[in-house]
Amino acid sequence: MGKLWSACFYLIICLPLLSACDDSSEPKPDVLETISKSEYAVASAHPLATQAGIKILQEGGNAFDAAVAVTATLAVVEPYASGIGGGGFWLLHFADEDYDIMVDGREVAPFAATRDMYIDAQGNPTKNSVTGPLAAGIPGTPAAITHIAENYGRLPLSQSLAPAIELARDGFLLTEFYAKRAKVVVERLQQFPETMKIFMPNGEVPQAGFKLVQSDLAQVLEQIAADGFDGFYRGDVAQKLVSSVQQAGGIWQLEDLDDYQVIERKPIKGNYKNLEIVSATLPSSGGIVMMQVLNMLSQFDLPAMNEAQRKHVIVEAMRRAYYDRARYLGDKDFVNVQVDELLSMSHAEKHWADFSAQHATRSEDYLENVLDDKPKVNEQAQNTTHFSILDQDGNQVAATLSINYYFGSGFVAKGTGVLLNNEMDDFSIQPGHANLWGLVGSEANAIEPGKRMLSSMSPTFLSDGQRIAILGTPGGSRIISMVLLSALAFSEGASAEQMVNLPRYHHQFLPDEIQYESGALQADTIATLQSMGHVLNDLERSYGNMHVIVWDLKTKQVTAASDLRAIGTAQVETSQ
Ligand code: GLY
Repeated sequence: MGKLWSACFYLIICLPLLSACDDSSEPKPDVLETISKSEYAVASAHPLATQAGIKILQEGGNAFDAAVAVTATLAVVEPYASGIGGGGFWLLHFADEDYDIMVDGREVAPFAATRDMYIDAQGNPTKNSVTGPLAAGIPGTPAAITHIAENYGRLPLSQSLAPAIELARDGFLLTEFYAKRAKVVVERLQQFPETMKIFMPNGEVPQAGFKLVQSDLAQVLEQIAADGFDGFYRGDVAQKLVSSVQQAGGIWQLEDLDDYQVIERKPIKGNYKNLEIVSATLPSSGGIVMMQVLNMLSQFDLPAMNEAQRKHVIVEAMRRAYYDRARYLGDKDFVNVQVDELLSMSHAEKHWADFSAQHATRSEDYLENVLDDKPKVNEQAQNTTHFSILDQDGNQVAATLSINYYFGSGFVAKGTGVLLNNEMDDFSIQPGHANLWGLVGSEANAIEPGKRMLSSMSPTFLSDGQRIAILGTPGGSRIISMVLLSALAFSEGASAEQMVNLPRYHHQFLPDEIQYESGALQADTIATLQSMGHVLNDLERSYGNMHVIVWDLKTKQVTAASDLRAIGTAQVETSQ
């Protein structure tokens, strides 16, 4: 299966990409014509969510209304990936003002959280950062969608939430994709009666074709539609959430919900050769790590390099940027992060001083001040979701949303249908202790009440002067490298389809290894990289679930693609 997959992958995806990437000689237009757009698009991780977004655009909503509809629908149909018990980052582009913001709806640590809350009496990490209500940060998604609808949408929240409410109330048919993910965490789900009642009503994970009805969740969504922020964070729903969490040993209080605040942030912006990049800022590490890698790579002519050389320099740049992630990054409302310094070319040059074109650098040599562990990535780990939207007026949304691991903490608050996240695990719960993604961290990402945990979610906009791309993907720590590889491919001419289906490889400083999808590296490239001292780890599976929209400003053509690795759909429509 793995071999067949990789052979097909190379024939279908890589060969056309190589020729497309070579075709970079066509001159870019000096001045772009004024654009009159007629096409619009939605690409998301689930066909029902894509349909919901298109429906809202067709009812007169803009990209921001559609983002609310897609977020809420994904929360209903992908309980393994995101939900209103979670959070995320919504990157918005306003076409009229040519202006971008990031809506930060990341979860926050409850007020009663403490730095060592997941360390037992013997000094060892417990499982409480992963399973049950203690693992849950205060959700941000309900606040983010009400914020977006109230400030930037055209339609009432009740209209944008209608598709999600209907799917929760009347049910939708489960897929094999759903069943596979639920089976991975069945033991966690079994620990919580309310979760069992909804997601395993017959005592086991339902088969594909089962109709999943979520009546309590429908009511909570209706409450949000009626009362906005207060519908979730205050009143009856808030009471139910807090009392259920506390009864099960959690530490949420009503004040945690009442105080939750969405924050609008200036995204990370940068340039790499012909590309302009707009991406997520802290508390996501995504934009910073990606720009650091691109800064280090800007000295190279990547298309002129052979495969092994190209991969070597990209991996060495990833290693150094992920080292900075572990050492310096955290919620900048709590810790001092020198973002400008990290993004400077002088910092890139300092990092590159010990680069060797012949040999892999050893991450161990960088360990000072960070950690002394040898983390292992959880091979099964998958999470999170992404969607991209372009509306008729050129407004754009790239949003990456999460409840962290499959089905989050596994805990549903009684009477709400709300599955709570286990995003607290994204904090550095003990120096040197690797989280679910194998990521390690330092004091900068230690737990503090009210603090946002460091994320890798990287919703991104790219522009090469002629084309615009709206993209992102789930995939934990590998999100950043996936978006990075697609950005490099886009800068070399790749289409939306080529970007989502690009073979993937990754290095995150620790563990000190190049992880790759089966078939993503050719045998001679593997041999050369090994001879340079790299450790190669064939994950023997695929990862990620990218969704990309590309808008060609010259031809006015919009194309969109969803990852072949999963079940999402991309839809482009033309205005009548
Ligand atoms: N929970 C995964 C992330 O935010 O990076």
